[in-house]
Amino acid sequence: MSSHAHVVGWGKYVPQRVLKNGELSELVDTSDEWIRTRTGIRERHLAEDGETTASMAFQAARQALEVAQLSPAQVDLIIVATATPDHLFPSTACLVQDMIGATRAAAFDLSAGCTGFIYGLSVAANMLSSGAYQTALVIGAETLSSITDWTDRSTCVLFGDGAGAVVIQMGENKGGVLAATLGSDGSGGDILWLPAGGSRMPTSQQTIDQRLHFIHMKGREVFRFAVKVIHEATCEVLQKAGYALSDLTLLIPHQANQRIIEAAARSLNLPLEMVYSNVEWYGNTSAASIPIALSEAVEKGRIQTGDLVVCVGFGAGLTWGAVAIRWTRPHSVPVSLSRRALRRLHYSLARFRSRLRRLLRGLFVIWIKNGWNGDQRRHE
Ligand code: COA
Repeated sequence: MSSHAHVVGWGKYVPQRVLKNGELSELVDTSDEWIRTRTGIRERHLAEDGETTASMAFQAARQALEVAQLSPAQVDLIIVATATPDHLFPSTACLVQDMIGATRAAAFDLSAGCTGFIYGLSVAANMLSSGAYQTALVIGAETLSSITDWTDRSTCVLFGDGAGAVVIQMGENKGGVLAATLGSDGSGGDILWLPAGGSRMPTSQQTIDQRLHFIHMKGREVFRFAVKVIHEATCEVLQKAGYALSDLTLLIPHQANQRIIEAAARSLNLPLEMVYSNVEWYGNTSAASIPIALSEAVEKGRIQTGDLVVCVGFGAGLTWGAVAIRWTRPHSVPVSLSRRALRRLHYSLARFRSRLRRLLRGLFVIWIKNGWNGDQRRHE
């Protein structure tokens, strides 16, 4: 991909309501100790009444646009990656388009399980590179609490709700989204799935009674698959981008389980400091996990201009994928002064003016005193 689609904005949103491991042990036969040692998760955020995938996506998108200093009317493409849309149709992306007032944007949802954000970023970067679009919002958002079986201890301890978003924009500078790799294996579809509610098993009293509208998962198989594909996709995307593992600054994997993250780091021979993790505080938020982690990593200063970052995901489908990003500005600053630079210049000038005023005031006082003393001496 000879693309110059740069990440120019980022944002995240998690609901206020926090569910700690201790509270889960009141619902099912589990313990804080089991959850922490087997998954690394301490707590997760759950949507409150009235909060939906679209409303959380909207919050993350608004923040990302603020960081990018762009107005909604400048967005011409919105992709929402989600497995928990507000409705089967209209798409959640269309709801977000309306909420933010992106009157010029095309909008669609994308379903690739927990790899959804990686698929979305890759698709958006390619659509921008084709010249058809200039600015895209890519969002990963989930309300997994709505499809979690709160009586199944093997799954309910894992998931959380939230949303993350990035704005990508074309620019003449080299860097940005350098390469992507995407994969799928539909033969593993029943390792992680939501059996009913689609055309194959429409909703009926029977599907409800059999609890087929909740996540069903073979945990150990997902675990093995995850460690394997994180390794393979990371190496592949770096190779496509023309780099080696030693060039990498930060790996941002899908946040599913701390043990998966650590096993993948070991298999890639990367120190844990180079692998971002926040699963402890959010649990697995599926398609939202990578953009939430990416936004947090930038906010915490873990990603700086010039850094090489790989985001890597895996999930239902089965799907997997990775994106390599050189963290750069889309435009050279001297050519077009960014608004932020203009603001900085404005504050510098204001500071200069106030210092000059203080100096002049000081000189005036000295002059008055000297003049007064001079007059006094002359009188004497
Ligand atoms: N609390 C206490 N015990 C639990 C439990 C819970 N929440 N969940 C499962 N157990 C029990 C099991 O019943 C089993 O008991 P048994 O030995 O008496 O049969 C025992 O713990 C071990 O279960 P197992 O499934 O082998 O545990 P594990 O070490 O594989 O951990 C997962 C389970 C789900 C945490 C782990 O397999 C995992 O994280 N897999 C990947 C899941 C994932 O990432 N999914 C999303 C992908 S996008």
